Amino acid sequence: MNSFKERIFSGAQPTGNLHLGNYLGALKRWVELQDSHDCIYCVVDMHALTILPDPVELLNSTREITAAYLAAGLDPKKSIVFNQSRVRQHSELAWVFNCIARIGWMNRMTQFKDKAGKDRDNASLGLLAYPSLMAADILLYRATHVPVGDDQKQHLELTRDIAQKFNNDYSDRIRSLGVGVEMAVGDETVSGYFPITEPMISGPAMRIMSLRDGTKKMSKSDPSDLSRINLIDDAETITKKIRKAKTDADAIPSEIDGLKGRAEADNLVGVFAALSGQQKEQVLRDFGGKQFSEFKAALADLAVAQLSPITQEMRRLIADPAYIDSVLRDGGARASVIAEENMNNVRNIVGFLQD
Ligand code: TYM
Repeated sequence: MNSFKERIFSGAQPTGNLHLGNYLGALKRWVELQDSHDCIYCVVDMHALTILPDPVELLNSTREITAAYLAAGLDPKKSIVFNQSRVRQHSELAWVFNCIARIGWMNRMTQFKDKAGKDRDNASLGLLAYPSLMAADILLYRATHVPVGDDQKQHLELTRDIAQKFNNDYSDRIRSLGVGVEMAVGDETVSGYFPITEPMISGPAMRIMSLRDGTKKMSKSDPSDLSRINLIDDAETITKKIRKAKTDADAIPSEIDGLKGRAEADNLVGVFAALSGQQKEQVLRDFGGKQFSEFKAALADLAVAQLSPITQEMRRLIADPAYIDSVLRDGGARASVIAEENMNNVRNIVGFLQD
């Protein structure tokens, strides 16, 4: 049985600065995967349009996020790095998926519910259809693996549902055109055009929480800048934010069980573990019994040592927009080749008349 070629796809929205959650939950792992996999990393500017209507901010943010990708270690020679809107097939496939996905599936998305708030009728259609475009991003390249933070899990489940329904609805056509890949689904062998993508969500940093409230996710949209560490923050700011991070009065526990019910402590230990490439157990072995003041000082040193070189390189790159644009242009051209080959097959599968 043929199988899909392993391919990684992931992306981040250019809506303001990337923060430590984006870095540990996504970017740091993307960099690691470059050596072992064929990787495509996208700055998803079309997604950002659902919440960022200011054109100048969107342009600047697209370059800044690209600078963060490169500064963190994405190598545009090894991986494809591009901005989504440059490859028109993303919107074309998203339309086909809009006709596959059901409104009920979209209405159930927690991110849509959170962002749309109480006045759902007034939310944009783009916000509702967002996960369909996300599925298109991934499946346009027939990506098999998607490294993301925990908050994207539901969107990836939906991507799998869309792939499955497409494969199913068009199974005869896929078979007769000979463009499918045989896959085992339960006891049956089906011929599918799209892989059933595997999310890659693991490790101690899949859900980094706000530094001010351990029950809330660290987020670009939190009004308090003290709640997050931005990749663009200087060493002094990082140290100050960690010093001010909310904690409780107890010492650091020695065992994982001792973190139960202590969301802030758990979060800081997770950040330490992810930055140092250890498991939380190891961090607790080293710091168990110590006070937070000591632990925070060590964490600040570690965060500064890891993030400062990235911050400096980001600043250098932001000052060279022509270089950034050339990376995105080149990445876009390479992505387009794969995108067009797949989209051409999809047009044939669904019955769009072509030359
Ligand atoms: P975005 O831009 O919100 O976030 C980018 C990546 O950062 C992860 N992340 C976190 N991880 C751990 N802790 C946190 N506090 C935290 N906050 C964010 C996210 O899980 C994500 O991996 N819908 C996506 C962008 C997207 C995409 C795609 C991703 C569009 N198309 C296709 C993968 C594949 C989003 O809004 O990510």
